[in-house]
Amino acid sequence: CSRPHTKFARVWLPDAAEVWKPAEVVKDYTPGDQTLSLQLEDGTLLEHKLEPQAKDFPPLRNPDILVGENDLTSLSYLHEPAVLHNLKVRFIDSKLIYTYCGIVLVAINPYESLPIYERDIINAYSGQNMGDMDPHIFAVAEEAYKQMARDERNQSIIVSGESGAGKTVSAKYAMRYFATVSSSSGEATVEERVLASNPIMEAFGNAKTTRNDNSSRFGKYIQIGFDKKHCIIGANMRTYLLEKSRVVFQAQEERNYHIFYQLCASSHLPEFKNFKLGDADDFHYTNQGQNPVIQGVDDAKEMLNTRKAFLLLGGCSHQMAIYQILAALLHLSNVEIKEESSDRSTIVPNNSHLKVFCELLGVSCEEITHWLCHRKLKTTTETYVKSLSKINATNGRDALAKHIYAGLFSWIVDNVNNMLKSTVKQHSFIGVLDIYGFETFDINSFEQFCINYANEKLQQQFNLHVFKLEQEEYMREEIPWTLIDFYDNQPCINLIEAKLGILDLLDEECRMPKGSDDTWAQKMYNTFQKQNPHFEKPRLSNRAFIIYHFADKVEYQCCGFLEKNKDTVNEEQINVLKKSLVKKKT
Ligand SMILES: Nc1ncnc2c1ncn2[C@@H]1O[C@H](COP(=O)(O)OP(=O)(O)OP(=O)(O)O)[C@@H](O)[C@H]1O
Ligand SMILES: *[C@@H]1O[C@H](CO)[C@@H](O)[C@H](O)[C@H]1NC(C)=O
Ligand SMILES: *[C@@H]1O[C@H](CO)[C@@H](O)[C@H](O)[C@H]1NC(C)=O
Ligand SMILES: *[C@@H]1O[C@H](CO)[C@@H](O)[C@H](O)[C@H]1NC(C)=O
Ligand SMILES: *[C@@H]1O[C@H](CO)[C@@H](O)[C@H](O)[C@H]1NC(C)=O
Ligand SMILES: [Mg+2]
Repeated sequence: CSRPHTKFARVWLPDAAEVWKPAEVVKDYTPGDQTLSLQLEDGTLLEHKLEPQAKDFPPLRNPDILVGENDLTSLSYLHEPAVLHNLKVRFIDSKLIYTYCGIVLVAINPYESLPIYERDIINAYSGQNMGDMDPHIFAVAEEAYKQMARDERNQSIIVSGESGAGKTVSAKYAMRYFATVSSSSGEATVEERVLASNPIMEAFGNAKTTRNDNSSRFGKYIQIGFDKKHCIIGANMRTYLLEKSRVVFQAQEERNYHIFYQLCASSHLPEFKNFKLGDADDFHYTNQGQNPVIQGVDDAKEMLNTRKAFLLLGGCSHQMAIYQILAALLHLSNVEIKEESSDRSTIVPNNSHLKVFCELLGVSCEEITHWLCHRKLKTTTETYVKSLSKINATNGRDALAKHIYAGLFSWIVDNVNNMLKSTVKQHSFIGVLDIYGFETFDINSFEQFCINYANEKLQQQFNLHVFKLEQEEYMREEIPWTLIDFYDNQPCINLIEAKLGILDLLDEECRMPKGSDDTWAQKMYNTFQKQNPHFEKPRLSNRAFIIYHFADKVEYQCCGFLEKNKDTVNEEQINVLKKSLVKKKT
């Protein structure tokens, strides 16, 4: 259909710098023409080349009168340049960060605090219909609340977007909305307690990355529970795959989990004196990024927030024990393992950091020293003890630290859930899903692979709801409708998770006695290269692979995948910890 591309038709041209730029057709297109004559806004004339038989006419611009609409579905043309332009006009001209796309709310991160979240705004949205008000996260929250209350149906809000897009901030505003509109009577503080779980989870599960100072390194699905009168009575959360590797390694400019820096910044406090901590700069697990400060964040102050949140949550008598374990991990990171020979290592007998580690955890220095430098190997007939190389012993130390932190994290989640458990029967719930966003860095590893895979699955849910199901309904009801050719990411998901997909090959390689990252890479090349359009081998590497994700193409380095997938820890070290003499309080 070429009729629209007549003289005066307004189009969008792809542009390297501006992504899309506006142009106007200056001469009627007639079938067979190899070019389209266009004029840019600055007056430049140009001949836009058309591929033979291709349907790649520049997309048409919407009439000016429609631009700035608060619902993208009211645009005549709904394609990438139309969406981007509409969002841009709203944001640049009027600082409007929210726009609807049907039942979906699109949010732009303003990177500054806007006066649109106060209590009077919450009140303004309360009880209103979604379509009657300006698009807002509160409108979405209100819609969920109303449908839960009126239709007696449980609801969930899914927040998605790349890392740094503003998911966690949005999720928190949604939660604050529920806490505000559903507060029962003055005395109950259950709403406050539900909200108090946020700073705790962020302190232990968020960290500075090069993309986001407050990046969630775990996924979270929280269900807020309501009673028959639609008042909040409690909450329960599930978390997904914490990025453990960050505990022992941080890339340039990145940080470990916030809580470590909060603790170091508070190390002078009398209650923390016997932790023998100092600056975050002094510990291997907190100084590898070489930039431990976040602009505008005072870690000592944040520590007060974290502690206050624990108190508010109520009855967490374990706070000091938690900090004690964190301090022990920091000392463990400074335990230097020395090379004795190519396959032997030692720790100097009175290593001061190991001493503090053992004191804080109540374990035997001698035993832990031994099992840091040795491991037990079992064959079918015998068990023997083998000494470890410096590298293997150091990796073992780090595996122990990761194991302890992950255990602590899930213990905290359980504890918070216990604190938020409702005493009366839950009638309904509203769930909020906030995971780690799609991300790509200079070097991408197993962690990015898992995170991006999770986002690929979430995108699929989105496609399913917004396109597939919607279109099926239109077709069932025989409403005239041209099928939208949406990008179905099932093939990319198959590449990762189907039988003999990437994960299968990885698991298989982990079971091979001689399996390595390199042999795994080779098997992937043999299986997918030139056969799967979502997979590519980089030209200059035999140790990396590229996946074409829905959001971007990402190159992953194979190095470390097998180790991270196996995720093993020296059992003997765990046995030493189990003998800890630190008194267990309840
Ligand atoms: N609505 C908003 N108003 C003001 N600032 C915002 C808003 N949304 C996000 N920001 C800013 O952007 C930063 C990043 O947002 P957020 O941490 O929510 O991203 P995210 O999508 O959760 O990323 P990740 O996937 O890395 O966890 C926030 O710390 C805040 O500074
Ligand atoms: C990150 O989140 C915490 C907890 O909500 C907050 O106190 C802190 O100010 C945030 N940091 C940044 C850099 O936005
Ligand atoms: C280190 O561990 C790897 C894998 O566990 C093993 O193959 C290797 O032989 C070990 N090296 C030494 C020197 O112990
Ligand atoms: C550590 O032990 C060595 C000998 O085992 C001893 O020479 C040294 O003085 C000790 N150092 C400290 C700080 O106790
Ligand atoms: C909503 O969830 C609750 C549990 O919180 C359950 O008991 C109830 O049956 C659910 N309601 C519906 C309509 O599915
Ligand atoms: Mg987040």
